[in-house]
Amino acid sequence: MAEQAQLSGVRLGPLQAGERITLTDPKGRRHSVLLTEGGQFHTTKGAVSHDDLISRPEGIVVSSTGGTQFLVMRPLLGEFTVSMPRGAAVVYPKDAAQILMAADVFPGARVLEAGAGSGALTCSLLRAIGPGGRLISYERREDFAAIAQRNVANFFGVNPSTWDLRVADLLESFTAEALDRVVLDMLAPWECVAALAEVLVPGGVFCAYVATTTQLAETVETLRVHSGFTEPLATESLVRAWHVEGLAVRPRHDMVGHTGFVITARRLAPGFTAPLRKRRPARGAYGNDYQGPRSQPG
Ligand SMILES: C[S@@+](CC[C@H](N)C(=O)[O-])C[C@H]1O[C@@H](n2cnc3c(N)ncnc32)[C@H](O)[C@@H]1O
Repeated sequence: MAEQAQLSGVRLGPLQAGERITLTDPKGRRHSVLLTEGGQFHTTKGAVSHDDLISRPEGIVVSSTGGTQFLVMRPLLGEFTVSMPRGAAVVYPKDAAQILMAADVFPGARVLEAGAGSGALTCSLLRAIGPGGRLISYERREDFAAIAQRNVANFFGVNPSTWDLRVADLLESFTAEALDRVVLDMLAPWECVAALAEVLVPGGVFCAYVATTTQLAETVETLRVHSGFTEPLATESLVRAWHVEGLAVRPRHDMVGHTGFVITARRLAPGFTAPLRKRRPARGAYGNDYQGPRSQPG
């Protein structure tokens, strides 16, 4: 039970030294604080003593020495990933949620991820596969891998036994083992399609998250040319927060306009190719000088 709670990243019971918590002030400003015995959190409105928080439940409100009130909470997974230290840019919570559903990541799944970056998506994947799953994460930069390792350990409170972080280039040192799901957040996911197709089980999901339209097109065309996958599906999600106050009920003015595209396709059984598409590409969809996807079909 204790290990299951750890592998969900959810901590229960009173706050303890060594935990990261969030203090939110009356203006909604959030401060991430690592609790230490004898520690102090200083603001322009006075200090909050960590000892006043340790051994107490989350969800309490405390006052600084200057009289400002702070709401005390453990961060949710999405809040943790956007406030944790980062090397590489992290996958935002809205996209992590979309990826989990699009890639159908399930408890017990054998998943490969690349690159691990800062470990934000890693945390979501580890939580989704649960104690019976296995996540292999490739990260070619040693400094980023170290950040991911720290962030994951901080979130779960342990190094999850379900996680195998490999500091290596996926293209150069990939070792074959059967996989249910592949989730790529890296510069050139199309370069890995042929190799990963060899180990993805029939019906398994290939999922790539990319930032630009050129990466989107290259990945989709490579999956098509491979012919061992279903027709790729490409989506993006836009999340708009709303301001709700009295008669002023409207979308908020600030919004993240673009983060990335999620591409998914399912692996066909060996020896089978995708049925020919009934709908032909529009005339001119592939210009005269189009060279086709760069990687070779596998
Ligand atoms: C945008 S970051 C990933 C962020 C991560 N998903 C997160 O949420 O924190 C992309 C990462 O892919 C890594 N990468 C790119 N190509 C790679 C490859 N061929 N093998 C392993 N890692 C790779 C980069 O070093 C970088 O850290």
